[in-house]
Amino acid sequence: MAVGMFDSGLGGLTVLGACAARLPDVPFVYLGDNAHAPYGVRDADDIFRLTCAGVERLWDEGCELVVLACNTASAAALKRMQETWVPKDKRVLGVFVPLIEALTERAWGDNSPPREVWVKHVALFATPATVASRAFQRELAFRAIGVDVEAQPCGGVVDAIEAGDLELAETLVRAHVAALKRRMPRPQAAVLGCTHYPLLESVFADALGPGIKVFSQPALVAESLADYLARRPEFLGRGGRPRFLTTGDPAQVGDRAGLFLRRKVAFERA
Ligand code: DGL
Repeated sequence: MAVGMFDSGLGGLTVLGACAARLPDVPFVYLGDNAHAPYGVRDADDIFRLTCAGVERLWDEGCELVVLACNTASAAALKRMQETWVPKDKRVLGVFVPLIEALTERAWGDNSPPREVWVKHVALFATPATVASRAFQRELAFRAIGVDVEAQPCGGVVDAIEAGDLELAETLVRAHVAALKRRMPRPQAAVLGCTHYPLLESVFADALGPGIKVFSQPALVAESLADYLARRPEFLGRGGRPRFLTTGDPAQVGDRAGLFLRRKVAFERA
């Protein structure tokens, strides 16, 4: 009864950690496409092609349901995948919708018409491809009216994290937050729209300053996945054991994964 989890690299492990803690009986099969990370500087066709290949690999592992624990894939590829590619007996879910449901204080899966919400000024931090897609604004507009979103493409942050250089990642985060605050000095909420960023959540919060509510995905996605599986248990797949797969170098990826999961995991070549 495995569930698949896909990211361009290591960032999805932040989501995996929260999902595994929330759903301890569900075996998760993780696939990081580290050989092709980062996705955030690729074009939409490229991201679509790579994401489909990763999802197919997880279907081969018996995961009928795959979570794209990657905002860039969710933003640039998911809609097209769901409309043109995913067969009826499979499901591919993204990480944007749970985040937006939390931001707009909706129950999971509430698809009622858009309405006024508490938040009027939102800062979005994400990869250049996610920002360019405007998928966040599109999904938000289905649920809320009158919300101003200022988006900051955080070039370089994913590369630095994938390379294990957290000092550089921190410097870049502070520069990106400062750049955003020049354009929107007083956001009410800040969205960490990349699954790599929760690793630097305290840096974002510190750079943003007090009084700004920071929305980070791991716990939100875990809650919404638990709710989804309670409603749709038929999508617990046939796979039976947790696995960690990578298209990159398993030894190197396994070493860096410790940063995210705070325990050693053995990666296998996908
Ligand atoms: N963790 C991915 C995300 O949530 C990183 C994307 C990338 O590889 O640039 O967007």
